[in-house]
Amino acid sequence: PTRVGILTAGGDSPGLNAAIRGFGKTAIGHYGMELIGFRDGVTGLVENRYEQLDGKALSGILTVGGTILGTSRDKVHRYQVDGEARDMVPVVVENYEREGLDALIMLGGGGTAKNAMRLVNAGLNVIHLPKTIDNDIAMTDTTFGFATATEIATDAIDRVHSTAHSHHRIILTEIMGHRAGWLTLAAGIAGGADIILIPEIAYTVESVAATIKARTARGSTFSVVAVAEGARDVNDAADYEAATLLVKSAKSPEAVRAAKAHLAHVEDQQREHTFRLARELEAATGLESRVTILGYVQRGGTPCAADRLLATRLGAAAADLVARKEFGFMVAARGEGTVPVPLSEVAGKVKLVPTDHAWIAAARQVGTGLGD
Ligand code: F6P
Repeated sequence: PTRVGILTAGGDSPGLNAAIRGFGKTAIGHYGMELIGFRDGVTGLVENRYEQLDGKALSGILTVGGTILGTSRDKVHRYQVDGEARDMVPVVVENYEREGLDALIMLGGGGTAKNAMRLVNAGLNVIHLPKTIDNDIAMTDTTFGFATATEIATDAIDRVHSTAHSHHRIILTEIMGHRAGWLTLAAGIAGGADIILIPEIAYTVESVAATIKARTARGSTFSVVAVAEGARDVNDAADYEAATLLVKSAKSPEAVRAAKAHLAHVEDQQREHTFRLARELEAATGLESRVTILGYVQRGGTPCAADRLLATRLGAAAADLVARKEFGFMVAARGEGTVPVPLSEVAGKVKLVPTDHAWIAAARQVGTGLGD
């Protein structure tokens, strides 16, 4: 029978187990394939650590958070061994061949798409399924995990409303999303945040403070601010952009190393930006300010129905591709269906929120401050 390997890589995301199950039940039950699950993402692939997945292993996992296979952020071409980065693509190819695999299914986000592309280039039959709470993968309508994380962040914004209101405070809720604002924007709108700050729109403290003061003038003595972890004020955004450009334009390996070190320094300096903004707003408005970092609760726990549905249908569609021997694709969600998109059109791309996006327009129309 056709023998397939599956793994989950990158940050965990609600719906991973639903996707493993969706793929596995279709592959094993419908097509009669054999399935093994590599442990801990790329790590298991390099170390050839896996387990046989059968109907029993796939049963009862639809509603379970995290990933039954474990995950890691390792890269196939820069795999860390004793503090040194090694190219492990040849090792992965060897393991794939030794195990007699016909295909490899990689569930992950942007980093995983790049790893998948590297393995496609090395001649392996790979299919990628897009997962991330950040919703920042190109060429797919959405990614599983995003809907659940949106529910969790919305619930958090709902909850801070009553305490902000009772104490007449500003509460800044920091929401994940890496460099993209999708999660903050979605939860900010759904939770009725008074101000939403996303990386795609650099803010000024003056603008945020003006929105809060206008609320005070109208009799609202509290404000809830949804802040993306990647949001920046105009100065920080300019510093970050300059540092990123330096990395892109560096020619020699030394220049690349120096530019990357500088970028890491800039990122480090900007890490506590939400706390800084809270202090600045307190000074500008006279209102007591507090910060809530939502953190990993956003990725944990049971996937919502929409993510289970999405993950199941992407998983099943991936098994169809294996059956048809069509490889080198990401299975994208498109409307109610799915389409295979060549990995070359996805790898290395990040989907940010376009500033003319309908959600941004809607936020403005209902009077939400966007900090600009
Ligand atoms: O990609 C998912 C995500 O949760 C991002 O929103 C966040 O920036 C990052 O992962 C956190 O990474 P880690 O799990 O390595 O702390």
